[in-house]
Amino acid sequence: MSVRAERYLAEIGITVYKRRDLAAARASVRNAPTELAADARAAGALAQPGSLAAAQPLPIAPTHEAWERLAAEVRACTLCALHKTRTQTVFGVGRRDAELLVIGEAPGADEDRQGEPFVGRAGQLLNAMLRAIGLPRGEVYIANILKCRPPGNRDPQPEEASLCTSYLARQIALVNPRAILAVGRIAAQWLLQTDSPIGRLRGRVFRYGESGTPLVVTYHPAYLLRSPLQKATAWTDLCMVRELLRKKA
Ligand code: URA
Repeated sequence: MSVRAERYLAEIGITVYKRRDLAAARASVRNAPTELAADARAAGALAQPGSLAAAQPLPIAPTHEAWERLAAEVRACTLCALHKTRTQTVFGVGRRDAELLVIGEAPGADEDRQGEPFVGRAGQLLNAMLRAIGLPRGEVYIANILKCRPPGNRDPQPEEASLCTSYLARQIALVNPRAILAVGRIAAQWLLQTDSPIGRLRGRVFRYGESGTPLVVTYHPAYLLRSPLQKATAWTDLCMVRELLRKKA
């Protein structure tokens, strides 16, 4: 492990005595079978008609106009009641040609105020997690399932996610990433159209949408702030992402 990775591991709260676990985790990443559609089916992750995965268009020309049109549609969106309580929409941020697309749940209070995903405490931890695998925040693209904050940070309702889903589908198609990292239960369950618990979804590689983009699930950084012992587990998920990106396209 590089000195830089060690430094960031310390930053996200993983102590050095975890090194043996990390070696084991690496081995398990190397040996982990790539979960193809059959595995997704086994996990109940079959794309349902009308689901995001089923609606997932193949990559679309990532022109400036296509991005601006989408951003304008999101800014003006009144499809669900969340538009009445939002300060502003939270579209997404980062490199539009990123290799990694990170997908979270929905804006919280900080994001609603600043108009950018993952800018609060959970966002700081997410940044450190990404840096730990050599990907500074500015190198990835970050978006959420919902573009507006649910009041009181309640869970998104399925109807809200359904109404918002075409925006995310278009972001995925525009970025056309080499890998997707779903952070947290809500994002993972929505993207994979399953109600399997996150403990069953993390630690493996799914294939997402028509393009078969590898998708890895990990714990939400807000959960990791509450349950720091799980950071070592999240690290194994991040290593999996790093290995996917290291592989030749
Ligand atoms: N949690 C999320 O899932 N997304 C954000 O943008 C902020 C917190």
